[in-house]
Amino acid sequence: MNNLCKNVSRARNVHTCCTLLKETPQNLKSKKHSSQQWLARQLRDPYVEKARQEKYRCRSAFKLLEIQERFKILQPGQVVVDCGAAPGSWTQVAVNTTNALSKEDCSVGKVYAIDKLPFYPVEGAVVMGNMDFTSARTQDELRKALQDVKVDVVLSDMAPNATGVKEMDHENIILLAYAAMKFALQVSKPDGTFIVKVWDGGKSMQLEQDLLRFYNKIKVVRPDATRDESTEKFFLARGFKGLKSS
Ligand SMILES: C[S@@+](CC[C@H](N)C(=O)[O-])C[C@H]1O[C@@H](n2cnc3c(N)ncnc32)[C@H](O)[C@@H]1O
Repeated sequence: MNNLCKNVSRARNVHTCCTLLKETPQNLKSKKHSSQQWLARQLRDPYVEKARQEKYRCRSAFKLLEIQERFKILQPGQVVVDCGAAPGSWTQVAVNTTNALSKEDCSVGKVYAIDKLPFYPVEGAVVMGNMDFTSARTQDELRKALQDVKVDVVLSDMAPNATGVKEMDHENIILLAYAAMKFALQVSKPDGTFIVKVWDGGKSMQLEQDLLRFYNKIKVVRPDATRDESTEKFFLARGFKGLKSS
């Protein structure tokens, strides 16, 4: 396998959100049909080029940037937990918007980024790779890292490996969404924000109703950067009501 093929194969297997290729493919003919299709789509995609130009690790950055542009959810000084963060473009956006690198003369934020895959450090963030968010150990570690500091914004762009079986993929992403939601309920500040991705299906409405029990407002967002063929959508839950102790 030549270097380019290795890159393609690594990018596809490691990060489903299409990590940017460092090289321009020269000869698509020698590759498998699915690889050809994937590469052709990457080359046609304006967000891939834009991500490269603006130094984001992948095109997903533009989904969070659009949500930020429309709803101003991230502010300097906030504490953010980014679940399913690899390769790290949402983390880059969160670091910039919360001023986690202390570049601006305003409050300094803190960003924690978790993924079950290993990923390269993102300057200004606490990166926790190789950690399955659904495991109790990961969530304990994260709580320990937070040191009882409450969180302003929990982001979940977590997605399972897609099988292509729509119902199964929907079920799997819903399980991840509930894992993120349960964690968000435990660690969020009153009035906190939670953003979670789903691939739409039969259980989306139940999730929305469950979110409404704990948050004042829910908005369904489908950013422009979401691919036309995807059933992806994000629930933006704002105004955490807090958990009533019984
Ligand atoms: C669409 S990608 C996230 C892209 C990321 N937001 C970015 O902008 O770079 C989805 C990620 O969810 C992660 N993921 C899936 N299941 C997970 C789990 N159980 N625990 C932690 N991360 C998980 C995947 O490894 C993958 O990196």
